[in-house]
Amino acid sequence: MSHDMNLTLQVWRQKNAKAEGGFQTIKAQAISPDMSFLEMLDVVNEEIIKDGKDPIAFDHDCREGICGTCSMVINGRPHGPKERTTACQLHMRSFKDGDAIAIEPWRAKAFPVQKDLVVDRGAFDRIIAAGGFISAPTGTAQDANGLPIAKENADLAMDAAACIGCGACVAACPNASAMLFVSAKVSHLGLLPQGQPERFIRVRDMVAQMDAEEFGTCTNHGECEAACPKGISLENIARMNRDYLKGKLIERPAVAGGGGV
Ligand code: FES
Repeated sequence: MSHDMNLTLQVWRQKNAKAEGGFQTIKAQAISPDMSFLEMLDVVNEEIIKDGKDPIAFDHDCREGICGTCSMVINGRPHGPKERTTACQLHMRSFKDGDAIAIEPWRAKAFPVQKDLVVDRGAFDRIIAAGGFISAPTGTAQDANGLPIAKENADLAMDAAACIGCGACVAACPNASAMLFVSAKVSHLGLLPQGQPERFIRVRDMVAQMDAEEFGTCTNHGECEAACPKGISLENIARMNRDYLKGKLIERPAVAGGGGV
């Protein structure tokens, strides 16, 4: 007994970064509910290629929720209807036979569309390059338990490190803010002893790069947290703001009569 589905896709097609894009209606026939969303697109692309036409361009790599490249807005939601699920891990059983599905790229000034569903997320790489690292002294490796880390901090750092840099937070935010992403990267290093030497400079430099990339400002909508496939918490933003302020105070040049922190 077959439960295959027939669907109508409305897919954003755009030849290149300069071209004007638009939605194209494409039929997806005989789709198994056990396929992932990307496998469904593969099947659709095979048909398009058989017809001698240009297949739908979309990013993907790991197809197991790790790399963060499968960025697409499905029916108005980054990564689609399922919570904490990347597009590559979304199964077609989340849809019904006969459904119409709208598929669009991330929409943000800082993520220009390259082709169809593919956007350039190089802005994230440049933010990481601005401060998402620690200085590591050379020499023999330290004893594993020579650096005690409080369990609570270890857990929070691990939670923040779950960010896969997919950009769903930016795509979901009405301001296209990258605060959730940046704060996750800041937190996972700033909570650990190894991240302390650059802790405040890191925040300053990553935030400066974020602004230079023209991401919007955070006005606490919280859409980012809801859309994040890894459940990154808004608390990271609050933590980053505190570090940012401390960084600013530390930077402030000493003036006569100026109060200390
Ligand atoms: S393809 Fe890697 S997270 Fe989806």
